[in-house]
Amino acid sequence: MTDPVFILAPMDDVTDTVFRQVIAGCAPPDVYFTEFVNVDGLQSPGRDRLLHKLAFSNKEKPIIAQIWGLKPENFYKTTKDLIEMGFAGVDINMGCPVKAVIKSGTCSALMNNRDLAVDIIKATQRAAAGVIPVSVKTRLGYNEIDLSWAELLLQQSLDTLTIHGRTKKEMSKVPSNWSAIGDIRGLRDKINPSTKIVGNGDVISRQQGLELAKTYKLDGIMIGRGVFGDPYIFAKDSPWLNKSKKDKIELYKKHIELFKDTYKDNERSVKSLNKYCKIYISGFDGAKDIREKLMRTESIDQLLELVVAI
Ligand SMILES: Cc1cc2nc3c(=O)[nH]c(=O)nc-3n(C[C@H](O)[C@H](O)[C@H](O)COP(=O)(O)O)c2cc1C
Repeated sequence: MTDPVFILAPMDDVTDTVFRQVIAGCAPPDVYFTEFVNVDGLQSPGRDRLLHKLAFSNKEKPIIAQIWGLKPENFYKTTKDLIEMGFAGVDINMGCPVKAVIKSGTCSALMNNRDLAVDIIKATQRAAAGVIPVSVKTRLGYNEIDLSWAELLLQQSLDTLTIHGRTKKEMSKVPSNWSAIGDIRGLRDKINPSTKIVGNGDVISRQQGLELAKTYKLDGIMIGRGVFGDPYIFAKDSPWLNKSKKDKIELYKKHIELFKDTYKDNERSVKSLNKYCKIYISGFDGAKDIREKLMRTESIDQLLELVVAI
């Protein structure tokens, strides 16, 4: 069996072009995803404020744009735009469980509005017109595991179906259910063998991903939060555990410098860097105190100065 495709998961406000470039420089995944971007916003006068979420560099390729929203016509228009922008694929988010997001009927709420879910997929596929692949990322069900949802999605001739092994109700509170992901792969074999199945949830090493893919006969493994513990997670043999304090600080410095060069118009605040601090500033004496100091910083230049001085 060939190795599964390893994918860096979309994580809103985390896997932006800057962080993706950091990961690319450590150990690139086979495929990148953007953060999810709202199609109804993209097709509104507020479009320009969202475009930074679709920025990518040549280092992050192939890259798939992940979109979400309500109106099929906006999925259509956005998909046409994404082709122009050079994306390698378009993925529809049907899994996000966040209240503020689903209250308008989007993302995981589409599990309860299946006619609209199908309309959205069809509009996206019409626009993609075979030029770029269309995929869906979803969960096991809404309140409980519901294989009829996966069955419906498998009937839509998707290129890929990514399953995060939890229900909407479970949020992130229970372990990812890989055997249920395996059941969906079994359904795929019967309903639509050409749709690739990617499993997602709680993978913290490439080796673990390889084993899960083998056990459940999956085409791909998607890793999100695992990169916080090891930015080299996609490497065949990750060197992260042997990295020195100096190496880690150097990597953080690179991240901050790239952030500074990328967001010249303050599209993202310096505070948004805080969430990465623990990746780089950990595993050595005094790390906690240093982190607390760095996270109080109000300007990017001050942050850089402090990091250089560690
Ligand atoms: C901070 C954060 C933001 C996320 N944003 C997205 C998103 O934009 N689109 C999406 O499909 N999933 C999103 N997710 C879910 C992840 O892609 C992934 O499904 C989930 O974290 C489980 O995988 P993991 O255990 O490998 O992290 C997000 C998760 C986190 C923690």
